[in-house]
Amino acid sequence: MLETKIGDYSLKNPLITASGTYGYGEEYEGFYDPSILGAIASKGITYIPKKGNTGIRVWETPAGMMNSIGLENPGVDHFCKEEFPKMKKYKVPILANLGGNTLEDYLKGVDLLNEIDVDFIELNISCPNVKEGGLAFGLSCQSAARVTGEVVKRAKHPVIVKLSPNGENVADLAKSVEAEGAYGVSLINTVQAMAVDVDKKKIVFDNVYAGLSGPCIFPLALRMVHQVAQAVKIPVIGIGGIASAKDVLAMLMVGASAVEIGTMNFHDPYLVPKILKDLEDYCQAEKIDHLSEIIACLQ
Ligand SMILES: Cc1cc2nc3c(=O)[nH]c(=O)nc-3n(C[C@H](O)[C@H](O)[C@H](O)COP(=O)(O)O)c2cc1C
Repeated sequence: MLETKIGDYSLKNPLITASGTYGYGEEYEGFYDPSILGAIASKGITYIPKKGNTGIRVWETPAGMMNSIGLENPGVDHFCKEEFPKMKKYKVPILANLGGNTLEDYLKGVDLLNEIDVDFIELNISCPNVKEGGLAFGLSCQSAARVTGEVVKRAKHPVIVKLSPNGENVADLAKSVEAEGAYGVSLINTVQAMAVDVDKKKIVFDNVYAGLSGPCIFPLALRMVHQVAQAVKIPVIGIGGIASAKDVLAMLMVGASAVEIGTMNFHDPYLVPKILKDLEDYCQAEKIDHLSEIIACLQ
């Protein structure tokens, strides 16, 4: 009943856990079996391992949080050898979330990922928390198209490009990566934001700006998913502040084929199984046999 498709790939349900909020799955095994998910997006990985940012890395906001992790990760090679083999036991599609500082970094990362059977590369050109590369690629249609084109040419796996809400018109960005062979797009990454510790008269983050996520960004994300779904033919994955089955349904109705759940996993680690149950109840009550009956019904 909850089955959905990303292009030619079937997911048993539309729930994917968002990169950076679910580790590699193991972290949630104490709560429920991650194999109930439609798919899992790995923590962002880069060819060269990263120590991440100094100073405060997370900050709570009304209805959300800000983070400045700076893509701390053990590197693509470590992911391929140590983390991916463990993730395979869940028998769900895996999106390897790939970041980079330079085009060369991205391509070297792709070469390593070509050696393993991940299902998708989720190309992260939208992280606002690294000084070079990353977001720089995702801000303009020209640079987003360039990195996407090179990665698509090199990759054996379908490439889903993760879009930024902080750059040029998001529908134009989506069209520019679609033209370069992106298999799909996922959006949104975090929204660039800032916090001040008034008591200390200090900017909170060493990097000054950080990424805002959680329910406070849901309406913004929904608007962008709607715009992108109307602009492109490739599959769209909706991300941003999803906190309930109704939020998932709203994303599907405006054109997402699947969704990613991020920040709210921290707030309630049992959120995924709860949403799955609520989605099943909704489909039964509304006599929906297949999610395709509601996907993009509000375009
Ligand atoms: C702590 C944290 C770490 C994140 N790390 C990554 C990452 O490594 N790669 C990436 O593409 N997005 C990363 N994100 C962004 C999320 O995957 C997601 O796009 C964003 O948080 C919006 O969804 P949400 O409001 O449901 O969290 C991170 C978000 C948070 C909160």
